[in-house]
Amino acid sequence: MFQKDLLQRKRILITGGGTGLGKAAAQRFLELGAEVYICGRRQEVLAATERELHERTGGGNKNDDGRKKMIHSLACDVRDAAAVEAMIESIWADDPLDVLMNNAAGNFLARTEDLSLGAFQSVIGIVLMGTLHTTMACGRRWLATGHKGVVLNITTTYTTTGSAYVVPSAVAKAGMQALTRSLAVEWGNRGIRMNAIAPGPIPTEGAFSRLLPRPELEVEAKKRNPLGRFGTTEEFANLAAFLVSDGAGYINGEVVTMDGGEWLQGAGEFTALGRELTEKEWETMRPKKTAPKPASRRPE
Ligand code: COA
Repeated sequence: MFQKDLLQRKRILITGGGTGLGKAAAQRFLELGAEVYICGRRQEVLAATERELHERTGGGNKNDDGRKKMIHSLACDVRDAAAVEAMIESIWADDPLDVLMNNAAGNFLARTEDLSLGAFQSVIGIVLMGTLHTTMACGRRWLATGHKGVVLNITTTYTTTGSAYVVPSAVAKAGMQALTRSLAVEWGNRGIRMNAIAPGPIPTEGAFSRLLPRPELEVEAKKRNPLGRFGTTEEFANLAAFLVSDGAGYINGEVVTMDGGEWLQGAGEFTALGRELTEKEWETMRPKKTAPKPASRRPE
């Protein structure tokens, strides 16, 4: 799908890159020649992912000297602004980043009236404040030096509609989306591009164990999707690679939905109704066939 050197010489940080969608993107970026930093809260998870991706991709395409290590991991809780600043400073000590992918997230199903303040703070802290911390730390450095930068935020399909039972996530991701569009305009004329992906259901251990607690719910989830299936991490990683590449250089402030049409199916007023109708009911709703009128005789 892509030229093998599509992301060569790009230095990319992926928050929450040790697992799930972040890990899938890290692999794809490495395969396309990028140098990748992954960060997350758990050192042991990051170290395992770093080892695995290094072996699986041969460390990514070789740089000019053929020896440079292409994957690095850094433990950091993005909720902690000072820790983020220190992490970004340590990366910049080698060289500036070119791409920041804000992927770290927290989410769980819960009735909103049962949530503690701490639960709200935890999810909003990771999703919204975490994105703000990394974006400001990178953005200020890019603006100060005129270095071009790309930000890719991973949002969700329920930012516009909201969603019951995931309210901290819905409000945090809506804020993330507003940040994406606002800064795409404010910083666009100074070399910074900012976009987002709104993925639908894509099976990963972290998300599905929290959001689809019973296997039979997966059958229902697939029925809600026009394509009748979940997305794949490979499809997600391909879209991410395209959006951060120079080939997407004129895409700015966009939120690309990748959900097989799921949210549109849920939103369409007559969609569910139409699926319930029987063949006979469809038949009765068609215009009745009437006998053809006799052809009028043409005047002689
Ligand atoms: N229902 C209700 N409240 C919950 C909860 C749940 N399922 N899970 C956690 N919380 C509350 C805790 O009770 C706590 O509240 P308190 O401070 O009032 O006691 C607060 O959320 C923080 O949880 P804690 O377990 O202390 O750890 P954390 O802040 O490190 O947790 C989470 C982060 C909550 C997002 C956790 O689910 C997590 O680490 N998730 C992994 C990443 C993830 O969710 N990815 C998203 C994939 S879609």
